[in-house]
Amino acid sequence: MNPTSFNHIPILMTDFKAWAFTIQDRTEKVLDHLLPKPDIAPQRLHEAMRYSALGGGKRVRALLVHAAGEFCQANMHTVDIAAAAVELIHAYSLVHDDMPCMDDDDLRRGKPSCHKQYDDATALLVGDALQTLAFQILAQNEAITNPKQQLDMINQLAVASGSRGMAGGQAIDLASVGKALSQTELEHMHIHKTGALIRAAALLGAKSSDSVDPARIHAVDQYAQSIGLAFQVVDDILDTEADTATLGKTAGKDAESNKPTYVTILGLERAKSLAQELYESALAPLATFSDEATRLKQLAQFITQRGF
Ligand code: IPE
Ligand code: IPE
Ligand code: MG
Ligand code: MG
Ligand code: MG
Repeated sequence: MNPTSFNHIPILMTDFKAWAFTIQDRTEKVLDHLLPKPDIAPQRLHEAMRYSALGGGKRVRALLVHAAGEFCQANMHTVDIAAAAVELIHAYSLVHDDMPCMDDDDLRRGKPSCHKQYDDATALLVGDALQTLAFQILAQNEAITNPKQQLDMINQLAVASGSRGMAGGQAIDLASVGKALSQTELEHMHIHKTGALIRAAALLGAKSSDSVDPARIHAVDQYAQSIGLAFQVVDDILDTEADTATLGKTAGKDAESNKPTYVTILGLERAKSLAQELYESALAPLATFSDEATRLKQLAQFITQRGF
């Protein structure tokens, strides 16, 4: 994590910054512990898995797991495992997203993307192995005493990652190159390719609690649906507005690849207004809660206001 990524957050968020930094650091340590060591065979694959999953990224999904966990008084060990599992799926999705057969991107998290640093076959296997490791660590978590709850968490992550979730959204993304999508079609794509995993992150945090409260789960779910869509709207905006050095990935790639985005469909200003509307929608289900929802609210602000 590059600490400067949080520099634009206003002073009121200082407390959030400290919290976020702690969770990012914690997530890094958990992942470091759970990923196979680079000297274990097959060394090159393990080295490439660690290259792709460690030492970078904002860890927004881990922050969401923790914020929702805090909101639902979750078991901290389970929250750590769930955060690592979601970040492993996310890291896998980025490795595959960058491959020449998908977005063909050379830069990720400020360094050569996995297939550039290694090769295409290794990148493919890194994605496969990061994905299965995510489910392995959820299945091996002994802190959860209720097997039904454990299976529910595994199922939640599987559905969010699969053909009716992230992978399906990626398929729609690739099929949409050069097409003029309607706003509804674009929303459908974004909800799947990015929103599904973000929603699962928040729900896994909430479900890491020993006493699952349906009202809180519902509030987290409503919050996460808005913030998941907002995240990709902002990603689209930053692709046109931010520079490569700040993003750690190639700026302007969507336009260059002829991808339909919120910026191409709505224009920059309306895309920004939409991000603000989604921020407000995310906060609405938390309105009846007080301090326990603070991290979720701050995170919504960070997600929607990073960079602009
Ligand atoms: C990038 O996600 C890919 C999208 C789903 C938009 P992030 O912006 O969360 O990437 P990292 O983890 O911080 O690198
Ligand atoms: C990627 O969307 C979504 C997933 C990886 C599932 P993008 O293609 O917009 O992500 P970036 O901009 O390359 O990070
Ligand atoms: Mg993509
Ligand atoms: Mg991409
Ligand atoms: Mg993008």
